[in-house]
Amino acid sequence: MNKPTFSQPLNNPVTQDAVASFSKASDPRLAEVMGLLVKHLHAFVDESKLSKAEWLQGLAFLTAAAQITDHERNEFSLFSDIMGISSMVDVVSQPPGGTPSSVLGPFHNHDSLIQANGSDLTKAQAGERVWLHGQVLDVHQNPIPNAQIDFWQNADNGLYPAQDSAQDPQNLRCKINCDALGRFNLLTIRPHPYTVPTDGPVGALLAASNRGIWRPAHFHIIVSAPGYVGLVTELFPSGSDYLHNDTVFGVRPGLIVDIKDCNDQDVAKRFGLTAPFKEVAFDFSLVQQTSAS
Ligand SMILES: [Fe+2]
Repeated sequence: MNKPTFSQPLNNPVTQDAVASFSKASDPRLAEVMGLLVKHLHAFVDESKLSKAEWLQGLAFLTAAAQITDHERNEFSLFSDIMGISSMVDVVSQPPGGTPSSVLGPFHNHDSLIQANGSDLTKAQAGERVWLHGQVLDVHQNPIPNAQIDFWQNADNGLYPAQDSAQDPQNLRCKINCDALGRFNLLTIRPHPYTVPTDGPVGALLAASNRGIWRPAHFHIIVSAPGYVGLVTELFPSGSDYLHNDTVFGVRPGLIVDIKDCNDQDVAKRFGLTAPFKEVAFDFSLVQQTSAS
């Protein structure tokens, strides 16, 4: 008996019935998204001619991901990241015109404390000091008042506080209310590349695929202001290793920044630095909510 083939999956009754099974959802968006998901997953099964053994292997992967997931560790989020899905959602959901968005990553903490504009986040820890400053603007380069930045990064050992019990949970993270002209500044350290977690099924998949496990160095920043579309993004120091092979596909050309020498004596004195010290200057551009809809 010949094996049936479906060159156009929507023409087979299984796909048609499965898509239709979601069509009566109370939420029309749920019906649309689930219908499209079924359609494309069925097309994937058809095109790849997925074997039963491969299907079972896929189910085992998802089961292992569930078993290692807890309130501090989400293997499904990591799976989304390394498949490029997280970045693709960024790409399709961002309104045009502003600073590019990038992945949120797993280490954001909603409980970061508000600190004064111009704070020194470095305390006594190791790491090359970097003065990070800039302005929050609209797409016409006008300053946005009442903007806030939410900042976090890893320490000199490459770890975030969630990975390193020796760190204060608030280490190298803060929220800062910008001034009336949208300006912000803080003193931090140079961030470092790090690997995604490799002790779960996603790590095994990366190894089996001969893929890298590293992310380039980056600062995480969320920029928000009343009336504007919030921006979740990252800044990537130029010259970092893995800038061109980020395993979660988060790098955008417009987010690569130079860490440059700065000779500002007033800033040096304020932070107890010796000029020249390092600085990153970057202005963020937000899209107005009304123009994004
Ligand atoms: Fe990160």
